[in-house]
Formats: sequence, structure tokens, C-alpha cells
Amino acid sequence: MGECNFMKNSSIPLVDLSRQVETLGPRINDALARVISNGDFIHGKAVKAFEEEFSEFVGVPHCIGVANGTDALEIALRWLMRERTGTVLVPSMTFIASAEAVGLAGGRVKFVDVDPSTALLTPELVTKAWTNDTVGVVAVHLWGQMCDMEELSRLCRERGAWLLEDCAQAHGARFRGRPAGSWGDAAAFSFYPGKNLGAFGDGGAVTTNNSTCADWVRRYANHGRSKKYLHEMEGRNSRLDTMQAAILRVKLAHLSDWNISRRRLAERYSENLKGVGDLVLPVTRDGAEHVFHLFVVTTSHRDALLDYLANQGIGAGVHYPCPLHLQPAYAGWGLCPGDLPASEGVANSCLSLPLFPEMRDDEIDTVSLMIREYFRSTGHA
Ligand SMILES: Cc1ncc(COP(=O)(O)O)c(C=O)c1O
Repeated sequence: MGECNFMKNSSIPLVDLSRQVETLGPRINDALARVISNGDFIHGKAVKAFEEEFSEFVGVPHCIGVANGTDALEIALRWLMRERTGTVLVPSMTFIASAEAVGLAGGRVKFVDVDPSTALLTPELVTKAWTNDTVGVVAVHLWGQMCDMEELSRLCRERGAWLLEDCAQAHGARFRGRPAGSWGDAAAFSFYPGKNLGAFGDGGAVTTNNSTCADWVRRYANHGRSKKYLHEMEGRNSRLDTMQAAILRVKLAHLSDWNISRRRLAERYSENLKGVGDLVLPVTRDGAEHVFHLFVVTTSHRDALLDYLANQGIGAGVHYPCPLHLQPAYAGWGLCPGDLPASEGVANSCLSLPLFPEMRDDEIDTVSLMIREYFRSTGHA
């Protein structure tokens, strides 16, 4: 996601974390003061308590805090590929970490196109992309909406492959009533500050129903040790910081309400923007409970509209402007424009409008009015 400034520097920013700090500040200060007075800075009480509370939130028996979401993906992938590596199917329309982690864990990425209306992997696209050496699939619940985990789970089970959930943008999302992070063989969460559940720095977690996986991940992320100075394998240092865990505990208590607020604000945008220009509004799939990490519209006038909004002090964004298969990092792989057309179409037309739980109705209405005005004044209405 790159460098991000979450300070209020435009009249309606894409994300304004300062409003959370205003309401939660005293409780966060108390939580941090407790960590300091306990002096348990590494793997302290707050880490254990957060892991218990977050595993309950996700509805799984195991949660292991790690240093960030990329590590959560990579470490889970190392476990999943500990006996057999091979080709891993990853959507092209995602943040680079979803693919990066596969290479770091010793696998080979094959980029897969996405559904143009949701920007998600579908069972049909995964089936089409499957090769003889496919060992697993990374299902990215992009923008706050889950993939069809029922069908993807069935597909992977039938073919003897594993399924990893990338839940970095989907804390609290559900599919057929079951939470993100509870479907796959393992799941990875990011607590990057702007996420639906964000720390005041980096943080991440692996969740799983599998106790062997949980034990391995816990050991690997802490130098491979089972107890002090007993290392059963080489691992590394990827621990959730105790200060961050203390902050996350305070915020977790509000996550469900924040997600409700995001959904309500998204509905207001959708009402306001119905039939405006060539805007295509977000689609919530059957069975999905969207948590609107981002409110993403598509339009053929994306770049001009983005500039127009920026000039009016509205902080819109693009997630993401270039699909992974066309990134310079993968230039040597022989992939060309046109290879994954839906991902390219989404990347060329998507626009994320300001959305955060504390946003006011009048701010949603102001952004909506400006968008209407753009289409009216340019004659694209
Ligand atoms: C879809 C997705 N996966 C993985 C990550 C990586 O998380 P982190 O930044 O915590 O390493 C992000 C974060 O931006 C993300 O959006």
C-alpha cells in the first residue's frame, strides 16, 4: 500500500484516523501506560489477550500475532508449502504483498484474472487457470468483500490443494454468515493503520482452525523456539508488538460497530450516486456481508474525476492503478497488456471514494454532489 499519510490534509480525506484518536485516545493511553508499567514489551500480556479476542472474533481456535500482514501471508504459506511447493494461483488485482509472499515462501505465482464486477477471484476463473502443479490458491477478499469461499473451498479440497485467505481488507466480513479468516486452511490479516482494524504502526496475524499449523506458525515467528533457548527449527523474528496489541484490543471492541457504519455510509453513497454519468457502483454478491474497507466505483473518466475531486479538496484514491501481472517487478514473466483483461479494466477505471466509520452524512453528500457536478459540467452525465 506504500507510504500513506492519514492526517487530515484535504477537506474530506480518503481516511481520517484522527477522529478515532479523538474518541479512543484516553483508553489507548491507559492501555499503553499499562504495557509500560508491566514492562512486558515482547510477547506481553496484551498480545496473548488480543490473540484470544481476535480468534473469538474470527470464530477460530487459533490466532498468532505477527509483525505485519505480509509476514502473516508468508509464514502461513511456508507452512502450507512445507512439504510441496509449486504453482500458487493469485489474483492479479490486489496489493503486491499477496504475490510477494508466495515467492518469499518458495512458491511460484500464477496470476489469475478477476470478476470485473467485484474484482474477486471466482471458482470458474480459478478452474480455468489450474495447472498440473497447482498446489494452492490465495483468495484475496479485496475492498472488504469475500470471495465465494464455499465453492473455492470445495474446488481446492477436491483437487488436494490448500486455500489461503488474504483478509488484509476484510476484518469482520462474512460469507454465508461465516467470518473471513475462518474458511481457509489458514488466513492472514494486516493491521496496517488504515485497515478496518488498524494499529498505530505495523501488525498482522495468522488465523487457523488447524492446531498443528498454529503451533508451527507460532514457533516459526519466534525463532523456531518451543521454549526459551530451545530451537526446534530455524525461524525468524516476526512478533506482534505488545504496544500495538494493546491498541488493537481497544479498537477491536469497536470493529463491528465501525463495519456497520461503513455499510450504512456505503448505502448512502449508492443512493446518492445511482444513475450518475457512467459510474458503476459496488456490487455486493449474494451471501456476502461487505465491510467496505474501500468504497470503489468504476468510470471511464476515472483520471479526470480523480483530478477534479483533488482540486475540490476531496481525497479519493486508486486501489490499484496497475494489476500485478503488468508491474515492472514481473516484467520478465512474459505477461502483456490484454492477458488478464478484467483486472486491467478494473485497474484503469476504479476509484476509491473517501470512507471511514466516523465520516458524517453531510460529507458523503458533499462528495456525491461534487461527483454529480463533475459529470454535469463535463457533459458526460
Ligand atoms: C490485500 C493485502 N494483502 C496484504 C497486505 C500486506 O499487509 P502489510 O502492509 O501489513 O504487510 C495488504 C496491505 O496493504 C493488503 O491490502
